[in-house]
Amino acid sequence: MPPYWSLGFQLSRWGYNSMDVLEKTVERLRQYDIPHDVQYCDIDCMERQLDFTYDDVNFAGLPEYIKKLKNDGMHYVIILDPFLTKDEPQGTYKPYELGQELGIWVNNSDGVTPAVGKAWPPGESVYPDYTNPKTAEWWIQMCMEFKAILDYDGIWIDMNEPSNFQNGQQPGCVENHLNYPPYVPDITGGLLAEKTLCPNSKTYLGYHYDTHSLFGWSQAKPTFYASQNATGKRAFVLSRSTFVGSGKYTGHWLGDNFSRWRDMHMSIIGMLEFNLFGIPYIGADICGFNEETTYELCLRWMQLGAFYPFSRNHNAIGHKEQDPGVFGEEFAAISRSALRIRYSLLPYLYTLFYHSHVSGNIVVRGLMHEFTSDPQTHEIDRAFLWGPALMIAPVLEEGARSVYVYFPEASWFDFYTGRQVSPSWLKKSVEVPAPLDVIPLFIRGGYILPTQFPARTTVLSRLNPFSLIIALDEQGEASGSLFWDDGDSIDPIKREEYFYVEYKFSNRTLKTTVIKNGYRGITTLAYSTIQILGFTSKPNVIFMNGEAIPSNRMHYSSNGKITLQISVPLFQELTISFGH
Ligand code: NOJ
Repeated sequence: MPPYWSLGFQLSRWGYNSMDVLEKTVERLRQYDIPHDVQYCDIDCMERQLDFTYDDVNFAGLPEYIKKLKNDGMHYVIILDPFLTKDEPQGTYKPYELGQELGIWVNNSDGVTPAVGKAWPPGESVYPDYTNPKTAEWWIQMCMEFKAILDYDGIWIDMNEPSNFQNGQQPGCVENHLNYPPYVPDITGGLLAEKTLCPNSKTYLGYHYDTHSLFGWSQAKPTFYASQNATGKRAFVLSRSTFVGSGKYTGHWLGDNFSRWRDMHMSIIGMLEFNLFGIPYIGADICGFNEETTYELCLRWMQLGAFYPFSRNHNAIGHKEQDPGVFGEEFAAISRSALRIRYSLLPYLYTLFYHSHVSGNIVVRGLMHEFTSDPQTHEIDRAFLWGPALMIAPVLEEGARSVYVYFPEASWFDFYTGRQVSPSWLKKSVEVPAPLDVIPLFIRGGYILPTQFPARTTVLSRLNPFSLIIALDEQGEASGSLFWDDGDSIDPIKREEYFYVEYKFSNRTLKTTVIKNGYRGITTLAYSTIQILGFTSKPNVIFMNGEAIPSNRMHYSSNGKITLQISVPLFQELTISFGH
């Protein structure tokens, strides 16, 4: 279960290079009131790219600044690489010296001398062997000690394929059947040691040949416990290399993409794949990592990225700034409005993560997942769904001011107007308008989505009034649910300290059933609006728990949308009937 704050918008870049630039960047998002929950700093914030350090010259004041961000309700994530230099002066770099004493590195084929490669830190580096339980203990200890220096909330683990800037460790890989097997997969260079360690290196679990793809996997679990133990809160881990089963401990981002329209499109495919892989907390670097982004690409990417489960704008060193505050007023306003839609839908997204957590349901779905028997959905990779109920159809082409959207057989409603999509559009690809400030969104009839008024951070949005969007199907029915808890404690589900309510609409009546009322903080939260889409006739009288509601609390528009204002605590069960 991801912490709630990690569903907020996140900003990162490699190459802030100074405290001043970092602060100015965060400040301009604040000036434009752009939702912003999480801030990162990359390896340029480290002292000479050494894990468990920060650069107290170029980033003097970083620890105090992190405290300030946290006082503003934001969260901070550090980066860690899985290689440590062996070449610092003796007595100055504990992470290496303690690890060396414990003998926890990946070894050469002799099983005793450490494999030595070259990566970011100065000198030459050794690689922690996370398949060894002693390594896990060392790693957790280092992360916990570092927490006293930088008060972080989560850990981003990078380069964990593991990456090496040379092919194999020194002095190169000997000629044998492990290092040069007769058949190799279609990989870069056609070489197993390409930019990593020699396959005949030894790990605790066996040859690197057998454990290579498990390097990131084996790092995720100790990092999860490091994050949890250091913060005392729910773990946040983000990893570049993952494998089957990693989703229990970490999310994933899609690595070093390019600032190209094609890569933006590919990110949808990656996101759908990782949901099938059991790693639903997934996203790509918004606006692209390598190369220079453009105004329009970055803007369309901010709109799409507002619907990645993991929503982070990240950029490589040496490129122009691309945060949503840097392109001026219009860009900021459009980004803000896309992110405010995201934030309003976070109760729905968080509930999808709950269902994923307890039953393995996926969060982001291809249309084929929901409309399996409609072969026309099988090849759609330009639109996707949040759960069963929200379709997102982003613009993926430069200059386009419309998109073709395929509507499978269902009732669909335009998210912005609440108007029902014409039945003549069903089972067809229809061109819908998408001016620069709009990402087309559609709600599927038959579902009830819990929402909440947005704010600049999730800490604030979590206090706001809730609403329900009830989108009716052809039978005039809909259902849904809401999961809620404190958002960042460890395993509230096991402790039964959560709130869970089910919603059902049928026979012109909404019924809410509280299944679990174990979260104490629920008492301060309330519903303020109930919206119904696809209601074909104006109700004459409305009863809530037996009492008539004054007619001025309800607005009915001719496109079949009811908006009802109420003020009722979330924990209270409701029966609201809309009479003829
Ligand atoms: C590679 C990662 O994929 C990228 O996101 C990061 O910025 C650089 N390493 C530098 O740490």
